[in-house]
Amino acid sequence: MSRKYLTQAWCVLLVTGISLSCMAQKTIPSYHQEIESLMSKMSVEDKIGQLIQENGDQGHDGSIKAGQVGSVLNVVNPQAIHRMQQLAVDSSELGIPLIFARDVIHGFKTIFPIPLGMAASFNPDLVQQSAAIAAEEAASVGVRWTFSPMVDVSRDPRWGRVAETFGEDPYLHARMGTAMVRGYQGEKLSDKTSIAACAKHFAAYGAAIGGRDYNTVELPENVLRDVYLPPFKACVDAGIASFMPSFNEINGVPSSGSAFLLDQVLQKEWGFNGVVVSDWESVIQLQTHGFTDSEKESAYQSFMAGTHMEMNSKAYANKLRELINEGRISMEKLDDAVRRILRMKFELGLFDDPYTHTADFPPMLNDHNKALAKAVATESIVLLKNEKNILPLTGFKGKIAVVGPLADSPHDQLGTWIFDGDKADAITPLTSLRDLFGSKNVNYAAGMAFSRSLDKDLFPEAIEAAKNSDVILVFIGEESILSGESHCRADLGLPGIQEEFIRQLAETGKPMVAVVMAGRPLTFESVFDTFDAVLYTWHLGTMAGPAIADIVSGKVSPSGKLPITFPRHVGQVPIYYSYKNSGKPASDATWERLYEIPPEAPQLSIGNTNHYLDYGFEPWFPFGFGLSYSTFEYSDINIQDPEVSMGDSIVISAHLKNTGSVKATEVVQLYVRDLVGSRTRPVRELKGFQRITLEAGERKKVVFRIHTSELGFHNLDMEYVTEPGAFKAWIGGSSGADLGIDFSVN
Ligand code: NOJ
Repeated sequence: MSRKYLTQAWCVLLVTGISLSCMAQKTIPSYHQEIESLMSKMSVEDKIGQLIQENGDQGHDGSIKAGQVGSVLNVVNPQAIHRMQQLAVDSSELGIPLIFARDVIHGFKTIFPIPLGMAASFNPDLVQQSAAIAAEEAASVGVRWTFSPMVDVSRDPRWGRVAETFGEDPYLHARMGTAMVRGYQGEKLSDKTSIAACAKHFAAYGAAIGGRDYNTVELPENVLRDVYLPPFKACVDAGIASFMPSFNEINGVPSSGSAFLLDQVLQKEWGFNGVVVSDWESVIQLQTHGFTDSEKESAYQSFMAGTHMEMNSKAYANKLRELINEGRISMEKLDDAVRRILRMKFELGLFDDPYTHTADFPPMLNDHNKALAKAVATESIVLLKNEKNILPLTGFKGKIAVVGPLADSPHDQLGTWIFDGDKADAITPLTSLRDLFGSKNVNYAAGMAFSRSLDKDLFPEAIEAAKNSDVILVFIGEESILSGESHCRADLGLPGIQEEFIRQLAETGKPMVAVVMAGRPLTFESVFDTFDAVLYTWHLGTMAGPAIADIVSGKVSPSGKLPITFPRHVGQVPIYYSYKNSGKPASDATWERLYEIPPEAPQLSIGNTNHYLDYGFEPWFPFGFGLSYSTFEYSDINIQDPEVSMGDSIVISAHLKNTGSVKATEVVQLYVRDLVGSRTRPVRELKGFQRITLEAGERKKVVFRIHTSELGFHNLDMEYVTEPGAFKAWIGGSSGADLGIDFSVN
């Protein structure tokens, strides 16, 4: 048997320009002989059967017995899985096991923060551990394939699925996405606790026009390659087992039928040898897009482009045989798809033991899992404001008003895509705050039944609770149903009458802390001043309550940083930190403010810059921003050699000092700008980050090492190049860091 051995290595990904610690790709058997021996026994129908993914546990028994199903999604009952697997293994002629798939997105039973929240932790190690837990829990019922990670860079908070992303940055996406791949797939896929991961949605799904789900994407190829593809390439390099094309079209070609994406880029350029599974009915949607005129042509275009398995719709089942008979699809092409699917099943060990022995697994939602969920949730919280150090409430002796529609909303704190999570397992902030401060010290009144409520009937109770307290914790934001697939918003404000609720609470004159739960950045600048402190907590999952309580009480200092730029107004979208300078960059000095322009002022064309009259040019909060209960000082930025030779590493360092009075963690970020390019380059790009924990007063040197290949981009000839010339680097606590140093690459 020919076996391919890959060594464990730290790799630098030259093509993407992203330096990542690559997954240990080791000792992966090719199963060549086993696959070929099985293939020799398979009829064309058997082969087509492997390309079919059915939904649910009803109505497929006959086709499973006939060997016409390769995979099943959305069955999580272990008995149902066992029964269907038995049919495949014992009653079909070839006994090829099924692979059961599920959307395990941010946890299975133990729910972790939504991916956007996890990204705020800037902690890939914890994210990897969370994925490992999700894998173990899912595998314990027989699910061996998840449609995650989603590595869709998105710069549009209107898009509902931004909640499922790791934010706006390709580098952060690559780090988090590969961490999840490592977590799901473990040391080796054949481990009973490992599940196959799936990079989705390939590609540029997050660039839908207007932030409206499934919408058209118009994107120049260099932007696609520089911004949207690198996280996917990183997943390939991390050994991911599968890919899913996106629902959207890019430049007129829907991804499920895109030979450019699936064949040229994924297979030929990146050498991906795993499975491409369509998105839900995305094969037949090629016709709806207006890309094909029939189910048969949809099957043809999708299969020829490189979609190996069809999810739910029946174009492959109905039409592939005909297309093969007509000679339009070759046996070679069919065999290639079947081999990939069989290989995934062999790698998962399904041929050795197709059944799951649930009793061999630790219980779901065990203490370890919950502790990890709490740790990730705690690190995902971003402190946006803390005037007069109102937080933390360490040793607080007075009464605390806990109000707002999301203080005790176990369903909503779980976030979007939690098919298997149960609100009964969720610990809410109200419960944890009562535990921590004592029930008699907590005055609770929701004030609003849910975030979109337009009813003021419950206001008085909450105002009363506030009046009887010494501090108000107000839990505002969005219910989980307001983000996620197809749940996009044109308005990023607080829904319902939350602003009015906040204003009435503020009239009590009590200090007020906002705890915002949301699946996206929200804009609420008009009531921001009413708060003394603001914690942005996303949807934190099962352990939201204990995590928020630890932050509020000061047991832990906040360390989360924004993985996406917060606009002041939705009209600024798309707004992101790695923009281009333009020929007329805006500045505070040149911004003509809407209400300062005199009536009938002459319209000039000189001295103008690229701002909005009303909202200027800056975001509300920049990417990478997040406060702490301590303060940090950056100094002494240094570069080992300011004249770097092409092909060498660049070693940049700075000193970080905890200048506050409590132990705290800071996410130290490295940004670089290529000052002159044959194509203009963004004003900054994230190239590294490290979480550094320091005791009060402690100082540490933080060193980053990057390779010149990580400074490249796709030039006019669509080649990935690092161009020699002048660069600038910054080290600091957000994308607005001002401690910089010049260097050149020669
Ligand atoms: C549609 C979604 O786009 C995708 O992310 C998901 O994995 C599939 N449905 C399966 O549920």
